[in-house]
Amino acid sequence: MFRLPVRTLLLHHSKHIRTKTSSSAIRSTFIDYFVKQHGHKHVKSSPVVPLCDPTVPFVNAGMNQFKGVFLGNVDPPYPRVVNSQKCVRVGGKHNDLDVVGLDGHHHTFFEMLGNWSFGDYYKKEACQMAWDLLLGPYRLKPENLVVTYFAGDVVIGLTEDRECRDVWKQIGVPASRVIAKNAEDNFWEMGPTGPCGPCTEIHYVNADGSLTEIWNIVFIQCNRQADGQVRGLRRQHVDTGMGLERVTALLQGVPSNYDTDLFRPLIRCIEKNSKGIPQYSGKYGSEATLDSAYRRVADHARMISVCLSDGAFPASSLNLKQIMRKSFKISTDVFQNTRLLYHLYDEVASTLGEAYPELITKQKDAKLVIEHEENAYKKMRASLEKKWKDLAKQFPEIEELRDVEMNGFHLGYKEFKETINKHKSTVIPGELVFKLYDTYGFQEDLIERIARLNNLDIDKKGFWKLLADHKSRHKTAFKEQSSNKGILFDSAIKEIIKSGIKSTNDQPKYNYEFIDKKVVYKPLKTNLLAILNEDCEWIDYSEPSENKPYYLVTKDTNFYCEEGGQMADSGIIRINEDIHLNVETVFKIRDFVFHKGYFKVNKSGENLYVNNKSEVTMEIDSEKRLRVMRNHTAVHLLNAALRKVLPNSVVAQIGSSVTDKGFSLNLTVYGEKLSQELILKAQDLIRQSIQADVPLETRVIDSLQLSQESALTVPGETYPETGLRMVTINEPLVSKELCCGTHAPSTGFLGDFCVTLIKGAASHSPVIHALTGDSATKARELFTHAENLSRAVELLDPVVRKEEVSSLKKQLQELCGSSGAPYGDYAKCLTLLDGLMKKTVHTDEMALQAIANAELREVFENASTEGRRFVVHFTRCSYLMQGPALAKALSIPSAPAPALLLGCAGGVIVAAARVPKDMVTSSFTAENWLRCVLPVFNASAAPSAQSPLEYAEMTGTKVSLINCEQLVQDAMRAAIKFAQANTTHIDGRTPETKKLQRN
Ligand code: ALA
Repeated sequence: MFRLPVRTLLLHHSKHIRTKTSSSAIRSTFIDYFVKQHGHKHVKSSPVVPLCDPTVPFVNAGMNQFKGVFLGNVDPPYPRVVNSQKCVRVGGKHNDLDVVGLDGHHHTFFEMLGNWSFGDYYKKEACQMAWDLLLGPYRLKPENLVVTYFAGDVVIGLTEDRECRDVWKQIGVPASRVIAKNAEDNFWEMGPTGPCGPCTEIHYVNADGSLTEIWNIVFIQCNRQADGQVRGLRRQHVDTGMGLERVTALLQGVPSNYDTDLFRPLIRCIEKNSKGIPQYSGKYGSEATLDSAYRRVADHARMISVCLSDGAFPASSLNLKQIMRKSFKISTDVFQNTRLLYHLYDEVASTLGEAYPELITKQKDAKLVIEHEENAYKKMRASLEKKWKDLAKQFPEIEELRDVEMNGFHLGYKEFKETINKHKSTVIPGELVFKLYDTYGFQEDLIERIARLNNLDIDKKGFWKLLADHKSRHKTAFKEQSSNKGILFDSAIKEIIKSGIKSTNDQPKYNYEFIDKKVVYKPLKTNLLAILNEDCEWIDYSEPSENKPYYLVTKDTNFYCEEGGQMADSGIIRINEDIHLNVETVFKIRDFVFHKGYFKVNKSGENLYVNNKSEVTMEIDSEKRLRVMRNHTAVHLLNAALRKVLPNSVVAQIGSSVTDKGFSLNLTVYGEKLSQELILKAQDLIRQSIQADVPLETRVIDSLQLSQESALTVPGETYPETGLRMVTINEPLVSKELCCGTHAPSTGFLGDFCVTLIKGAASHSPVIHALTGDSATKARELFTHAENLSRAVELLDPVVRKEEVSSLKKQLQELCGSSGAPYGDYAKCLTLLDGLMKKTVHTDEMALQAIANAELREVFENASTEGRRFVVHFTRCSYLMQGPALAKALSIPSAPAPALLLGCAGGVIVAAARVPKDMVTSSFTAENWLRCVLPVFNASAAPSAQSPLEYAEMTGTKVSLINCEQLVQDAMRAAIKFAQANTTHIDGRTPETKKLQRN
């Protein structure tokens, strides 16, 4: 008989002194038993985050990774398999979150020991193997065990499982210990859909006569479909599960799972890190809130540690985030130490690390994430604390609700009080309840507490009605958004399926050939399956019109549809020489690829007949695809490079967008954040990889193989079960990512790489934009051009320079985008260009000043020639100038004759008068002269540092454009009149003008 290896021996004082077996020995005994005694293959636990199954939030049973095998979609890796699987039950059908801590055996995380037969052995062998292990290596007594089996169910359509009953009888279990149970107990289902079947359970009879279920053996023979129907599977399988924690408690002879060696170290760790708090005493019930808190934190610490070490992130898993918050709260409130999770991680790693090494390899990363969340939690609490204090001043009764910890509470409560006080109501109206629930996130029990606190009733009916209305509205909106297309194309899809075709073969999208070291996408010949008009109606044949959209479905396609963040291809579907479809968008609905576009008829076209069996040739826009492909490979390189330059941070990809113009990558960074320097380092690493021209390798695997490998995935993303593509790039920049996109054959094909913009660079969630190929080269050329320009700035004509700077800026913006802050070389280049632009503007002003000077010189020369004693002039070039520049131009420091100049810049009239010193008389001063024009514009004189006798300036005054000309004429007339009357002392020839004249 196979005996239990005694690894850890602990003396246990009970009635009989007996040896205790460690949980790790119990686990390995299970695995060894099935491997050595019954030829099973040991398969490692899959990560707890399901990669290929959107129907469950976490892996909740050992069978999850084999779901595809049961359904016949994935080949069984071996006929018999055994493992211990990490399971998390916090949502969906199997959710134990609310009861955790209250009893001794429910957990958010637990290990499931299981053995599987994929179409190999069935009921007889499965029951016998289980029985032998329990009675043999685990040394349980048969008289302490009872078994249950499926009693049958009319709705499901299965009769009593007599075969199973008889198996137990043959094994020797007395009939009184073989009990039939109904579907609720003995028909196991993984979730709302998926593999299921009748099961048989082995229970342990406790001293008090109660039963503890220890092993569930499921005979997987059905599948629960989305329509609720249970259908039979082609083959029959065995799926078993035994909770390690429970069986350990049983074999270690302790009252609860928390008293086993899986939990004791965690409880001790909490005790050690919460000084002054009474120790754990193992009590249950309403008096045992402290013990419940111990159990809850210990349980959650295991769940959180395992999730983090499996690559789940609070940023992409709300469940995880909430459980972390809950744990921080209990740690802070009950144990006065927010750091508990951080310390407990080490205990979890040391109790489970041997079985699940990722707990150790990811220790640093996981603790970084815990620390990050812990700090965020502390910050949130501090801000809530302040808001709470303010609120409590106004509404002291809320002290009763001290335990409530939510962001919107103060706003919601305030609104609640204001509304109630205003209406003086004794009932909280349904609308208000709904608002508290929907807008502020108050749960129903909180609303009830608030009602009690304020002696109010709740209009529950009103609330439920609003809630129901809202839900149905939401459902409709959601349906329209997500599957609108699905519904529209439903009948077309049914029609295609009738012809026996289940999906479009889109594998040719990955094909290309190398010709002369160039990637060449060959046209694909295939057949049409469907032509749909703009209303998505099926058309048998058609002479289509050119200005309406059509949808074509083909048997095969080389067009990439929008998937995995990569944009769809465009191109041409050629029907014949006379007619083709210009494909604009491509999308997939239930495995069929739809090409949407407009038909184009050649000028001489005669054969315009298209039918839904026509042979067609599909040609993608190769240039566009090449650019997209380069950008997609660059996303992988950037992901790898960032991880390399941030060795002390955890980087999670939240999403990416790949187009032919460039790409963007959204991240969450825990720990050290990105900096300009690090981005440039990452950019260098990518350029080195491009230089090294490393080939990309793509391997096609299925979900089962994936669960056994470690590759970069997008947290929260669901992948298909089969045909998964693992894209690998080797040294110098190593990358291994699961990806359905199309990629360059080698890194050298990228040609060039350049980061252009980053949004939120200093935050924990940056978005990075970058370019590859020709675009990157072009950008770099423009950067160099800008540098050269700045060096040659003095040599260039100002007008040419200005044009050049603007055109460079425009080209760069088109190339590099504008949603984010410019980075690296692009940022430097823009600074350079802005500097040049400023210089150019300055030079512009100088140029205008020169024009103004030239104009005035001409005016004075003419005045001198004509022998005029003074000048009154409206400056023509003033329209080109800004107010201050014009004022400067008019101030003419050394006028050869008395001058009153006027100008208009942007609707603002400016005027200045200057009288040379030797021509000033008591009546003829600059100030007096100017004063005669002021009333015309209703203006005043501007203060001036110069002598008012020689120089006076009018404050720039806005005038209406309609009156402007008239006003200027009036002012000039007034000025001339004044000057004529007051300059008779001048002979009309100033020394300067005389000189001018002589010249
Ligand atoms: N899949 C079965 C369970 O989870 C064995 O209980």
